Amino acid sequence: MSLDIYFATGNPHKVAEANAILSKFGIAFKPIPSLKIEIQSDSLEEIAKYAAEAAFRSLRAPLIVEDSGLFIDQLKGFPGPYSSYAYKTIGCEGILRLLEGFDNRAACFECVVVYASKETMRSFVGTARGSIAEAPRGGGGFGFDPIFISEDRGDRTFSELSPLEKSAVSHRGKAFRSFGEWISASARYHTLK
Ligand code: IMP
Repeated sequence: MSLDIYFATGNPHKVAEANAILSKFGIAFKPIPSLKIEIQSDSLEEIAKYAAEAAFRSLRAPLIVEDSGLFIDQLKGFPGPYSSYAYKTIGCEGILRLLEGFDNRAACFECVVVYASKETMRSFVGTARGSIAEAPRGGGGFGFDPIFISEDRGDRTFSELSPLEKSAVSHRGKAFRSFGEWISASARYHTLK
């Protein structure tokens, strides 16, 4: 038997990555795309907490919201909280053009997972440091994966890693593993499972 938790997202890649990690804790996420309300803010945590509160008010069942983004040092953290919009508008090619002529290609991915239930609301954070590639490489993953080189995986981009390799070092992998460890130690998990 598994513990079902709603996941307010319209991104099937995020659900697949989260389910791959949480299945070993006996947790299955059920996506509900319509529930994610996004405010504008420079803080991923503020965006995710606001969305989690709003989603919980309408659903009244345990759920998570995840917000993530790519922060590029040379661009003072851009696209950061605006990553989804930047991906849809300028994409990987646009980011590469913005970095043309700069030596500093350092960047990081950040992910905040917020869990909301009747009893509690908690945040879990994960960061993956790395750099922006000179050109897109690889066929896996989604979003900015083809241009992000993790500092923990040699010269390969996230798109050149297997899902398991990406998850071991990724921002999402780290945030969801700490959520999994916390919930599996909590009373809710043992009474509902
Ligand atoms: P949001 O969290 O739905 O606002 O979207 C964050 C955006 O950041 C996504 O649309 C992607 O463009 C990018 N992003 C977040 N996580 C990843 C990842 O693991 N790989 C590649 N791109 C990501």
